[in-house]
Amino acid sequence: MNKPKLIIVSNRLPIKIEIKKGQWQIKTSEGGLATGLGSFYKEKGGIWIGWPGTQIKDKAMASEIQQSLQRQSLEPVFLTQQEIKEYYEGFSNQTLWPLCHYFPSYASFEKKNWLAYQSVNRKFAEAVIRIASPGDTIWVHDYQLMLVPNLIREQLPDISIGYFQHIPFPSYEVFRMIPWREQLLKGLLGADLIGFHTYDDVRHFISAILRIMDVQSNMNIIAFGKRLITAEPFPMGIDFDKFHDQVSRPVTQKYSQRIIEGLEGKKLLISIDRLDYSKGILQRLSGYNTFLKDYPAYRGKIVFYQLIVPSRDKVPEYEQLKEDIDKQVSHINAQYSTLSWQPIQYFYRSWAFEILSALYYSADIALVTPMRDGMNLVCKEYIASKTDREGVLILSEMAGAARELTEAIIINPGDADGMAAAINTALQMDPSEKMQHMQIMQENIKKFNIHMWVNNFLNSLSIAKEKQQKLS
Ligand code: UDP
Ligand code: G6P
Repeated sequence: MNKPKLIIVSNRLPIKIEIKKGQWQIKTSEGGLATGLGSFYKEKGGIWIGWPGTQIKDKAMASEIQQSLQRQSLEPVFLTQQEIKEYYEGFSNQTLWPLCHYFPSYASFEKKNWLAYQSVNRKFAEAVIRIASPGDTIWVHDYQLMLVPNLIREQLPDISIGYFQHIPFPSYEVFRMIPWREQLLKGLLGADLIGFHTYDDVRHFISAILRIMDVQSNMNIIAFGKRLITAEPFPMGIDFDKFHDQVSRPVTQKYSQRIIEGLEGKKLLISIDRLDYSKGILQRLSGYNTFLKDYPAYRGKIVFYQLIVPSRDKVPEYEQLKEDIDKQVSHINAQYSTLSWQPIQYFYRSWAFEILSALYYSADIALVTPMRDGMNLVCKEYIASKTDREGVLILSEMAGAARELTEAIIINPGDADGMAAAINTALQMDPSEKMQHMQIMQENIKKFNIHMWVNNFLNSLSIAKEKQQKLS
């Protein structure tokens, strides 16, 4: 008998294919799920099933890509342009994403998108069923695949299935707005263990399940038919050593030196996000504007690097957001720039890991201010990379990470005055205080790292499965 495998399933693979002039190449994917899990799946001897991020029309090219990815234990699920539009941009990112991040006015409820979501979830489930054997463990990730656990369960009733949701689970009052809420919850209940980043997400999930479905629950254990399903919080960590150790590598040192020389003694404030309304980018620009207005002594002495990674730019709300950010950045720069100083350096692209590491290390302050975020790994990566500990994290109370990183300066992202005051506090902070806070946060992130997160989830899944077996 073959050794049991771990099969990871997510919409996006940790790599993406880019096609230029008829040639394909492999690039690293962005986003917390891909970067977080990307570093461990090979260690666990797993297989990862997911979409390679673009449409591949040419059949010969698709087969070449498939063979190349299979050599890296990656199994591509190819999507057509219509599936990308209706399942990915549509139901996943215009229905579930805005609702789960408390932007219901951005949510659309189109039947054709729901139909595509169901058929693409079936496509992913079939890809799993093709390679799964009895005894394997299947770990499904995120909101794009909420129906997959039950679709697999129907075919493989005894297999071990975990589901982890990387984005918030909203309050029942918001979740109930989805016309197909019951089908989505039934999809999740195919799993043995359902994980979220925070206890609040678990609470919201259980409340939705109890009100919408015919189930019983005892604390976080849900009885559904003849099965017991566990819901639990698992706050996701990062590969601390990878970020910490990178800082001292010559390539990163070279970039940091260049960044620091370019600053000519000015303080560096940094933000790094995918283009997304949930990240609070416009609200942050407004906070920085208030800071420049209310603390004029800092004009010319601070620079804000706003790095935005392109994301979902075919979805109308994202396209509009990009335009609004461009305008607001120009407005602030036009208002405050002098012949020798520009308050914001704005970048719209993705970065190589070595440069990201240098940027994190060089920054005096990281401003992480989402309106809502399941966890937010950028703030953890900043802390891990601040090897000199001379940095301050300003963090939104709406990020899952705020539950753990209580030594950060915690702010409300909609409060521009509060954000301006927090920037001032960070700039005034005594080096010993900065180091003390940074040390506590580093110890926390080093301990609760990605390896511990994976092991905790998989151990809890084995325990949840044992409970099932005793019952049957
Ligand atoms: N990131 C990246 N390339 C970049 C900038 C950022 O891969 O040019 C990564 C970053 O290191 C982090 C992830 O994107 O791991 C963002 O994760 P986060 O949880 O903060 O937000 P998400 O994008 O998942 O909502
Ligand atoms: C968040 C989601 C992930 C997603 C990532 C990037 O982290 O939780 O599921 O992969 O954003 O978004 P994208 O739409 O480009 O995959």
